[in-house]
Amino acid sequence: MTRGEPSKTASHAKNEGCLTLSELVDRAPEMTGAERQAILEILDKISEGARDVARRLAMGPLHGLTGSSGHLNVQGEEVQAFDEIAQDTFSGLLGASGRVAVLVSEEREHPETFPCPGPSFYVAMDPLDGSSNLAVSGPVGSIFAIFRGAGESLRDPAKAVLDSASDVVCAVYVLYSVATLLVIAFRNEVRMYALDPVAEGFAPLPGKVRFPDGGGQIVSINSANYTRWDAGVRRYVDALHSRSSWSGRYVGALVMDFHRNLLKGGVFLYPGDLPKDGKGHPEGKLRLLFEAIPMAFIARAAGGLATNGKTPILDIPATHIHQRVALVVGSRERVLEYCHLAGAPEPV
Ligand code: AHG
Ligand code: MN
Ligand code: MN
Repeated sequence: MTRGEPSKTASHAKNEGCLTLSELVDRAPEMTGAERQAILEILDKISEGARDVARRLAMGPLHGLTGSSGHLNVQGEEVQAFDEIAQDTFSGLLGASGRVAVLVSEEREHPETFPCPGPSFYVAMDPLDGSSNLAVSGPVGSIFAIFRGAGESLRDPAKAVLDSASDVVCAVYVLYSVATLLVIAFRNEVRMYALDPVAEGFAPLPGKVRFPDGGGQIVSINSANYTRWDAGVRRYVDALHSRSSWSGRYVGALVMDFHRNLLKGGVFLYPGDLPKDGKGHPEGKLRLLFEAIPMAFIARAAGGLATNGKTPILDIPATHIHQRVALVVGSRERVLEYCHLAGAPEPV
């Protein structure tokens, strides 16, 4: 079975509403045939890398790989061993694909460039998201945004990616949890694939993925930062406590919190927080290129919204490859409710 094609054992693969990777790419809008082939090859490499990372994660505790690598990344954050493993896995596969001209990563200060004879794209990735969960075998993810490269010469690869950041063609996340899921979004739809560990490939799950009607009742936010939020965010959280029908869910991994809210309805917030004891990110903790843009693209394709509290995420100019932003992302109803209660403009 080739990756992305239904596995022999996945009975649902034959059901109504399943799309293989190539069928999904064929229905994606605004791409030439050559671009479709290039995107399909990139998605095939991402699914191959996800399968390899999933296998390595399962063996992590036995191989003593759930801790730190001992050094800091460009973000000044402690790098987990699996941050490096995932980085090397995806960089190796995407670099060898001949379809990725520039790769920017949360784990590398500078872009990597690769020779591409034919149509190619730029990719921004968070190779391992939620890595603080590794020590306790909690859910983690990988996140990718695929931008249409303008094809200009790559004298300044970082600028080439920043200039293309508003032209997202496809966004992907992998969730490594009780199952390993691959969620792929084009502008017109979101589809989900599950790793079949026996057949060693991803099989399509039926149907389009969309936020549920009504928007759900889940709010995901790290309330430990309450005293460091601005007044609008505190007003929103205070209002929640006077409301009966909501529940809090927060696991410290954007991919897991986003995925649960996508399926059940809800909103994830990581607002800017004022510095305290030398820590804090007034501009927001999460990264625009590697986390906010891909999740915002997926949310919009699934009928949701995403803002930094002032501007729709997909309208924010990218000025630095490691730029951080505040992020409010989820079902339309919940994001609009945040805006009304926090006094923020609606991201529509
Ligand atoms: P990463 O592991 O790629 O650095 O991402 C961690 C991010 C995100 O996944 C999560 O939502 C957030 O950090 C959690 O931050 P706090 O622990 O500060 O709540
Ligand atoms: Mn992350
Ligand atoms: Mn990461």
